[in-house]
Amino acid sequence: MDRFVKRFIFMSITYLLAASIIGVMMLGNPKYLGLKFVHSHLMLLGWVSMMIYGVGYHILPRFAGKALKSKTLAETQFWLANGGLIGMLGFYTAAYYTGTGAYMRVSALFGAIEVASIALFVYNMMTSLYGKS
Ligand code: HEM
Repeated sequence: MDRFVKRFIFMSITYLLAASIIGVMMLGNPKYLGLKFVHSHLMLLGWVSMMIYGVGYHILPRFAGKALKSKTLAETQFWLANGGLIGMLGFYTAAYYTGTGAYMRVSALFGAIEVASIALFVYNMMTSLYGKS
């Protein structure tokens, strides 16, 4: 199994645990409902997407009888996806609880990094599965 596959799966499971704890905190005390954005995105961009990236990189090219186009791009995507997610959620939370507009703009910047990571996944997977060779 490639290193980036193992890493995606490790982070996915870690995000599941963190997001679940935040979910229970929100149920236990409404003051934590400000973390709803964090919870939902840790679940969907963290747990769900990272699991799909990891498992997808490992098995989809094999299903198609092809090699992954670029392991370097997949490795890069790992760092962009995780940095983007943590930065987006961290600065969103800082903006929410302090009311500082600049934090929200930084959160949006990390959100754009997250989108860049998604674009890398799309490119790598599309060219691997549907490219020539
Ligand atoms: C571990 C069990 C979970 C608990 C205890 C939990 C708890 C919660 C709570 C308390 C809210 C806020 C509800 C409100 O607006 O009052 C919420 C929202 C949300 N949760 Fe979870 N959740 C869990 C699992 C999941 C999973 C597995 C996913 C998706 C993979 C998920 C996705 C979402 C989303 C997208 C929202 C936002 C919904 C909205 O804004 O209307 N949650 N969750």
